Amino acid sequence: MISIAMIYGASLQGKSVKNFRSLLIAGLLFAPLLLTPCAAQSSAGFATSKLAQTPPMGWNSWNKFACDVSERLIRETADAMVSSGMKAAGYQYVNIDDCWQGSRDAQGNMVADPARFPSGIKALADDIHSKGLKLGIYTDAGTLTCEGRPGILNHELQDMKTYAAWGVDYIKIDWCNTDGLDSEVQYTKIRDAIAKAGRPIVFSICNWSIDAPWRWAPAISNLWRTTGDIKDNYSRMAEIGFLQNGLEKFSGPGHWNDPDMLEVGNGGMTRDEYRTHMALWAILAAPLIAGNDLRTMTPETKDLLTNSEVIAVDQDPKGIQGRRVWGEGPLEIWVKPLADGSQAVGLFNRTEGPFKMKLDAHMIGAKSSARLRDLLDHRDLGTIKDSFTAEVPKHGVVMLRVSQ
Ligand code: GLA
Repeated sequence: MISIAMIYGASLQGKSVKNFRSLLIAGLLFAPLLLTPCAAQSSAGFATSKLAQTPPMGWNSWNKFACDVSERLIRETADAMVSSGMKAAGYQYVNIDDCWQGSRDAQGNMVADPARFPSGIKALADDIHSKGLKLGIYTDAGTLTCEGRPGILNHELQDMKTYAAWGVDYIKIDWCNTDGLDSEVQYTKIRDAIAKAGRPIVFSICNWSIDAPWRWAPAISNLWRTTGDIKDNYSRMAEIGFLQNGLEKFSGPGHWNDPDMLEVGNGGMTRDEYRTHMALWAILAAPLIAGNDLRTMTPETKDLLTNSEVIAVDQDPKGIQGRRVWGEGPLEIWVKPLADGSQAVGLFNRTEGPFKMKLDAHMIGAKSSARLRDLLDHRDLGTIKDSFTAEVPKHGVVMLRVSQ
């Protein structure tokens, strides 16, 4: 999918073409290529690479395992993704986070830690692909990763070529050890390197909201973190999730706000809190990157992570990020318009006890005949009439689909 025309279109949007003269030369050189069908795709930047047309779904090692990664863990996780029904539910990326790296060889090529990944990343990617899944990897734009492994600074193209040769499908690029660097400049350079490496690779920016990436990252990446790290507790998850309001205009097919990976199933939240986490991320059209041990999930965790009606909201083809339409302190109502004209609605109770919350039909422009369905519990609830009231548990949610 990535053509010279696309690279050209990409560099026009980046900082590499700085003056009119080089623009003119580039234009003369590549003008004929712009007449190819791919040329039309390049004009809107990275978002048109046709990757991540819906928010990416997968798994990442960090939230549960931190630095304790190995090829055995990744293989077993891929097997569990298939056997648990996660793959069938839409999860496809198996992403290794920090600590897979060893050191560089004499030519400066990145080599995986031989103790943790004795077969190397290429063999692992082949194995993951044979299961119908995709492999993701992690690195850092600076000198070292957050855990002190080699970063890619000044090795951008070399490393992207290595990853492409290994068969990597998704790259998360962190922002530790980047003193004095400009995030837009560095990430644009990395985007150009990915394009030159010639393999379609989902590009995930992880600079924790520095320099408001939603303003520039949509043109160069598929997703970008909008906050610092999530933690497996309600207050941090809620802080991050509800903070996304106002960012909805920057998100859409091919380019997504990323409020960080899921903590569902890691044990630090109640059932209602995890239901809030999953429902809110779906309403936000957030990437659904599970962060628990897929090999030992409880049925409750598996049911929540694979809830088809909630996932359908997240993966809706229109790709509209939801927003808050009503708030009264810790009581919030969020709405996400869906492709078929219906709306996903979340009644979120952030108070410290249960509360009866009321959705007025006019808040979401619904007719009195609009039908209501409870998505978390798969129940039809009749029509809205003038309003709908439901008791929402402490830190919990009632998630609805409202259809005319
Ligand atoms: C940062 C990122 C995390 C994780 C760690 C790994 O904190 O935000 O998601 O990748 O680095 O070191």
